[in-house]
Amino acid sequence: MAVVRWSEDLRVGNRAIDDDHQALFEMLDRLHDAMRVGQGSSAVGPVLQELVRYTEMHFRREEHYMRQIGYAGYAAHKAEHDRLIREVRELQARCTSGAVTMSLKVHTFLTDWLRNHIMAMDKQLASEIVAVSGGVERARP
Ligand code: FEO
Repeated sequence: MAVVRWSEDLRVGNRAIDDDHQALFEMLDRLHDAMRVGQGSSAVGPVLQELVRYTEMHFRREEHYMRQIGYAGYAAHKAEHDRLIREVRELQARCTSGAVTMSLKVHTFLTDWLRNHIMAMDKQLASEIVAVSGGVERARP
């Protein structure tokens, strides 16, 4: 399993969104570390839960921004967020063979999904926020 790091190519240009994305990748890294050293479910479980909770909070923030600017892509973008959360929850429920196996699947899925989603949808959203706000940083919800 490859180590995953946030990288400059993932920067979307909105500070709050970029901060969230960096925090999510740091949590993925912590989850990776917990799995790599073979920590038990008592260590892996809380990191995974924090990651899922932070992801949900981050999605709510982006959706708040989308509503604020009347974003035309709101429905499609929100549907992607909802799909990710649903799939992560289903993955957690299906994996009954231990926390590390479960976390590995969620880690791989979330990493791939986040990278693709940021490049395709979040960059588009951030450029629309800049276009509407004239580059003025919006208050964080
Ligand atoms: Fe950064 Fe649309 O999630």
